Amino acid sequence: MNAYLDLDNAIVPILEAAMRAPSSHNTQPWRFRVDDGTVYLSADRTRGLAVNDPHDRELAISCGCALIHLRVAAAAHGLGTSVSILPDPANEDLLATISFLSPDDAAADPDASLAQHIDHRHTYRKRFEPRQIPEQVLVGLVEAAESEGATLHLLSTEDLRRQVAELIAEGDAAHWANPSWRRELASWMHPHRERDGITIPWLTGPLTQLAVRTFDMGDGEGAKDRHIADESPVLAVLCTPADTQRDWVMAGQALGRVLLQACSHHVQASFLNQPVQIPTLRPKLQQLLGQTGLPQMVIRLGYIDSRLPVTPRRELHEVMDAHDRRR
Ligand SMILES: Cc1cc2nc3c(=O)[nH]c(=O)nc-3n(C[C@H](O)[C@H](O)[C@H](O)COP(=O)(O)O)c2cc1C
Repeated sequence: MNAYLDLDNAIVPILEAAMRAPSSHNTQPWRFRVDDGTVYLSADRTRGLAVNDPHDRELAISCGCALIHLRVAAAAHGLGTSVSILPDPANEDLLATISFLSPDDAAADPDASLAQHIDHRHTYRKRFEPRQIPEQVLVGLVEAAESEGATLHLLSTEDLRRQVAELIAEGDAAHWANPSWRRELASWMHPHRERDGITIPWLTGPLTQLAVRTFDMGDGEGAKDRHIADESPVLAVLCTPADTQRDWVMAGQALGRVLLQACSHHVQASFLNQPVQIPTLRPKLQQLLGQTGLPQMVIRLGYIDSRLPVTPRRELHEVMDAHDRRR
């Protein structure tokens, strides 16, 4: 069988699956180029969050999530992938190249079954059902992160959870006290954004945006987040060995794999990353974990009791670069 014939048919759904990945503020900071059966995945730094994410760390994590979505979608189409992370030292925007192995080369891939959960994974910011997640599901999630070179630390003691919840509230206070951070958040909440950004109800949209831009709501948000962290069935921190761009892409792949696998057990997630985003709080979080690894994401996991609206994405043509054979 000709793999490229298959790829021709499969490339659009594979890239659309990549674009369903979660991203910080739903910025969708990725670009794709397809040339000679290879996908080039680049960071779109024009979509970076200068205040929330000054080093493009979350941007690279978001692109890593798109990469794992791409890999599992390819597996579902019977295509193996060979991935090279940061293949060009002269081009740090090129985060990965992905070439496809013919179906004959692709070993029977357990990833294929994860692809069916791509459309059902959503960030769930409300309270979870007060139901515990079985131990064997959690062990599977820890292994999923490990298989991508990251570590998922489950916060197992009440004391540790309380201390991390305190850091989350401190992080909220620091964010909301910063007018530039509020302005940046508000700019991604614009009610006229249709295919990216954070979804807000159409009617209350302008008011919400104005409130976010204008008022320091740190106390209220901090109290709410502390409570939500405290009562989540599972609170976990995803860590990487170091803090390079390669680690961030790896963290993204681990995060994406954990979220899809969680979804296969009807478990959803959301994020309370404030202690990682505020530079003075990150070492405190690292110390609390007693780990040498670098915290990248604070994740809460649980079962949900309501359906979630699908979050918007741009059209595929908006994130495609025309191929240029000179490159
Ligand atoms: C690196 C990264 C950081 C994120 N940080 C937060 C966060 O701090 N708070 C939050 O509520 N959601 C956070 N999100 C979730 C995004 O807002 C969400 O993925 C996006 O709005 C798209 O929605 P979806 O995940 O439902 O598809 C983050 C996602 C990623 C990938």
